[in-house]
Amino acid sequence: MLEKKQIFPGHITELLENWEKRYPKDQQRSVIIPGLHILQDHNNGYLTIELMDKLAQYLSVPVAHVYEVATFYSMYDLQKVGRHKLNVCTNLSCMLNGAKKIMTHIENRLGIKAGETTPDGRITLKSVECQGACCGAPMLEVDKVFYENLTIGKVDQLLDSLE
Ligand code: FES
Repeated sequence: MLEKKQIFPGHITELLENWEKRYPKDQQRSVIIPGLHILQDHNNGYLTIELMDKLAQYLSVPVAHVYEVATFYSMYDLQKVGRHKLNVCTNLSCMLNGAKKIMTHIENRLGIKAGETTPDGRITLKSVECQGACCGAPMLEVDKVFYENLTIGKVDQLLDSLE
């Protein structure tokens, strides 16, 4: 069995340790959410079973606790993703303000459906639940940045700006 310090490379361990310090010793489960972000960000934007198992081992929590977080939140991806992630909110406020039109426009422009990645590996498109930005509906998130009060024109500008 590996020592805790040997589970991940040093630079990852350092980032995890910064989060561990923020919580009481008996509440290390709280590091699951930021820990998954760290691992995803260092693995081309997606998580693997191996990474989740290692995080469970690192935090000494049951693997089920890590899996349940990773599979609950749309901010985690469990399959390979494109270089850019587009998350279109399709929940109530956004839907009432044109999210369906926005989504259909993006799907047509990219030639893919929500949940898919463009064949050139450039963009992954997802439909997600409320992102807490209802006052700016309709909104979408591009690579962790929120864009609100969208119009088709704004969406086109955004898509054109992605490499
Ligand atoms: S419904 Fe879209 S951000 Fe809340």
